[in-house]
Amino acid sequence: MAGTAIGLGNFWRFPYMVGEYGGALFILIYIFCAFLMSLPIFFAESVIGRRTRANAIGAMKKLAPHSFWQVLGWLSVLTPTIIVSYYSIVGGWSVQYFAESFGLRFGEFDPDGWTALGFNVIFLAISCIIVAFGVNAGIEKFSKLSIPLLFCLIVIIAIYSLNMPGAKEGVQYLVKPDLSKFNGRMVASALGQSFYSLSLGMGIIITYSSYVSKEENIVSSGVGTAMADTLFAILAGFAIMPAVFAAGIEPSAGPGLIFQTLPHVFSAMAPSASWVGSAIAALFFLSVIVAAMTSSVSLIEVGVAFLVEELKISRSLACLLTFFIVLVLGLASVFSSKIFGLVDAFSSNVLLTFGALLAVLFVGWKMKREDVQDELTNCGTANRRSFKVIYFLLRYIAPIAIIVIFVSNFI
Ligand code: PFF
Repeated sequence: MAGTAIGLGNFWRFPYMVGEYGGALFILIYIFCAFLMSLPIFFAESVIGRRTRANAIGAMKKLAPHSFWQVLGWLSVLTPTIIVSYYSIVGGWSVQYFAESFGLRFGEFDPDGWTALGFNVIFLAISCIIVAFGVNAGIEKFSKLSIPLLFCLIVIIAIYSLNMPGAKEGVQYLVKPDLSKFNGRMVASALGQSFYSLSLGMGIIITYSSYVSKEENIVSSGVGTAMADTLFAILAGFAIMPAVFAAGIEPSAGPGLIFQTLPHVFSAMAPSASWVGSAIAALFFLSVIVAAMTSSVSLIEVGVAFLVEELKISRSLACLLTFFIVLVLGLASVFSSKIFGLVDAFSSNVLLTFGALLAVLFVGWKMKREDVQDELTNCGTANRRSFKVIYFLLRYIAPIAIIVIFVSNFI
C-alpha cells in the first residue's frame, strides 16, 4: 500500500502544488483533507476490495450487478490510463535528470521538447515491458529498498536545502499560513492531491485490498499508509521549498519546480568534491525512477488486465497496445505545458474526486451496515469504538465535504 501511495505525487506533485497555492495554508488544508476525507475513502475502497476479493470492475459486478455503480469499475480503467499518460512524462524527466547527474550537467528545464518525448518513450517502454513480463514481484522487492533509500536521501537533501543562504524565507513560507490566499480552487486542489497521493478514486485500493487477508486490520493499514504518505510529502516540501527561495526560483513555477530547484542543491553539496553532489543526485533520481515505476506499472496493469480479460488478446499484445495508447494520449502534454496542466488538474480534481465520491457513497449508503462493520472491525474483534466515528465520516462528512469542495472549485 505504501508502495503505491509513495511516488511522484509526494516528491514532484506535492511541492509544486504547495508553491502554486501559497505554502503553509495549502499544507494545513492538505493534512485536514488527507485524514478527514481521504482516509474514510481509503477505508471505503478497502471494504469493497476485501469483501469481494476482486478488482474494481469485478467487485462492482459482484456487489451491484447491472447498476449505475458499475461506473466505479469503469473509472478504474479510464482514470489510471489518463494519469499514466502524463505520469510517464514526469518519469521521463527523472530519467533525463538521472542521466545528467553524472557530471552534474543539468540543462535548462525544457519540458516541451523532443528530448522530453524521447525520455518519456524510454520510461513508458520499460514500464510496459515490466508489465508484459509480469515481473511486478521483482519491482516490489526493488521498491522495498528504494523507499527507505528515498527517505534517507530526502532527509539529506532537506538538511542541505535548509542550510542554503536565504533558505529561511522558504521555511517561513512553509510554516506561516497566509490566510488571504484562501480560495475554493485551493481546497479542491488539496483534496485532489490527497486522493492522488493515496492512490484513491480509481479503484487501485479496491484491487490492492482484495489481496489482503481477513485477519489484517484494514483500519490500521490505512492510518499507517496515510501517515507515511503525508510524512514523505511534507519532507519533500521541506527539501524543496527552502532551496527554491535560496536559488531565487518562483515557488509557483509549476510542474518543473523540483527539476529546476534540485540541481542547485546538488551543486551546493561539497563544492570542492563535486562527485559527492553527483552521487547523491544520481542516487536520488534513480530512487525517484523506481518509486515512479512502481506506480506507473500499477497504472498500466489495470488497462492491460482489462484488454486481456475483456478483449481476450494476449498479454504482450495488450502491453504493446497500451504503450501506444498511452503515448498518443500523452503527446499533447509533452508538447504543451498548458495541456499537461489541464490533464493533470482534470484527472485529479475531477475524475479522482468523482471516483472517490462514488466509493464513499456506495459503502456508506448502498452496502449493508453489518457488512461494512464486519470488514472494518474484523467481525467485531477490533476497532469497535472507532467504527462509529469512521461510519459517521463515511456516511455524512466525507460525501458532503467532497460535494461542497467540488462545487467550490468552479465558483
Ligand atoms: N499515489 C501515487 C503517487 O503519489 O505518486 C500516484 C498513483 C500511483 C496513483 C499508482 C495511483 C496508482 F495506481
